[in-house]
Amino acid sequence: MKQDMILVLDLGSEENPRLAREIRALGVYSEIYPHDITLDEVKALPNVKGIILNGGPNRVVDGEEIDVSEEIYHCDIPVLMADHRGDDPWPEDPEARRKALSDFVFGLCGAEANWNMDNFIADQVELIRRQVGDKKVLLALSGGVDSSVVAALLIKAIGKQLTCVHVNHGLLRKGEPEQVIQVFRHEMDANLIYVDAADRFLVRLAGISDPEQKRKIIGEEFIRVFEEEARKLEGISFLGQGTIYPDIIESGTKTVKAVKSHHNVGGLPKDLGFQLVEPLKMLFKDEVRECGKALGLPDSMVYRQPFPGPGLGVRCLGAITRDRLEAVRESDAILREEFAKNGLAGKVWQYFTVVPDIKSVGVRDGKRADEWPVILRAVNTVDAMTATVEDVPFALLQHITQRITSEVKGVNRVLYDLTPKPTGTIEWVGMISEARKSLI
Ligand code: XMP
Repeated sequence: MKQDMILVLDLGSEENPRLAREIRALGVYSEIYPHDITLDEVKALPNVKGIILNGGPNRVVDGEEIDVSEEIYHCDIPVLMADHRGDDPWPEDPEARRKALSDFVFGLCGAEANWNMDNFIADQVELIRRQVGDKKVLLALSGGVDSSVVAALLIKAIGKQLTCVHVNHGLLRKGEPEQVIQVFRHEMDANLIYVDAADRFLVRLAGISDPEQKRKIIGEEFIRVFEEEARKLEGISFLGQGTIYPDIIESGTKTVKAVKSHHNVGGLPKDLGFQLVEPLKMLFKDEVRECGKALGLPDSMVYRQPFPGPGLGVRCLGAITRDRLEAVRESDAILREEFAKNGLAGKVWQYFTVVPDIKSVGVRDGKRADEWPVILRAVNTVDAMTATVEDVPFALLQHITQRITSEVKGVNRVLYDLTPKPTGTIEWVGMISEARKSLI
């Protein structure tokens, strides 16, 4: 490892990720560890230059007072108490925090500001090669940010020892499978298996209108298709996975209860019998994007808006039919094209179209015709817990309406969803599952 490191020891503060990010923002690598780490374990970590004890106001967890072991307080590595109690409380003002951290990290610890993507990539390439040796790795490549960046990193480290499987469940946005093939097969020269499974997903989804059930079917079928492909391959020992740091932090630490569990399409069961390769597991989302850029992935992949695992399946409301699914896909493509042309693509957090399972009467070619409405949604948010509606210029909404009603088959009206979250959620069908309740 090339980077110096500052450890943040978790004494029950929810501020730990923020603190680790503030240290990384100074150019120094930082990781969070449980409070009961031993000094031997600390010494076994590479280049530890300092330790921060971050306890916040609540060092009592589940009725028990917790502390780090005595030997940590007395070791030869500088220790800082970033505490919110006492005579000299940890500052809240960002500039004051930055100064205090910088004095500790560079002054007392003598750390070097050598945390950057080039060093991270060089380290990971080495670590991946060491872990994998001459064995083979399999990766479910959805084309989302995390799996794409893992793919690019694994390709750099082990080239053709990696096999990527891209399952097209028929619910992807227009142009997505083509982009995955173009970038990974043609530009990065990776082993890529493309599975067009659209028919089998649509057959299984036929007549199913309950959103949770649709999600479940899509998730299960995804695993089935992936397992079938994995079984056809020989000599696979490892499974690549796009786990990132927030996934690990949010799935709970010793002192902070899990705030959400991760179950998603593309989420594979743990018992597939492979060892995991998770090279992004210490990166925050913006660092994952930076890593993707440094590895040469296109901006449209690295900065793409969030897209739910069940894809357009949650936006084709009610039972999915091929023609209505096409209406969702085509209207979404028009919305994305117009947002890109008008400088909104990089600015608005999430935007998409929804097609409900209703028809209203309209006029087409001089005759009355019953057709679907398309609902446009464009929202901004920081954490997806609350969201505000983008103030899209009226003329642009009218232009998009004109395009959708003339170019998308079976659509005669366009509506703009003006509802913030709350009361509306971002998507039109809710997350009813237990796992997502905490997010709503
Ligand atoms: P809601 O609709 O709950 O959405 O306001 C918050 C964020 O979560 C995304 N979302 C999903 N992501 N699987 C996913 O991977 C899903 O089933 C799902 N449902 C919603 C949504 O797009 C938004 O970014």
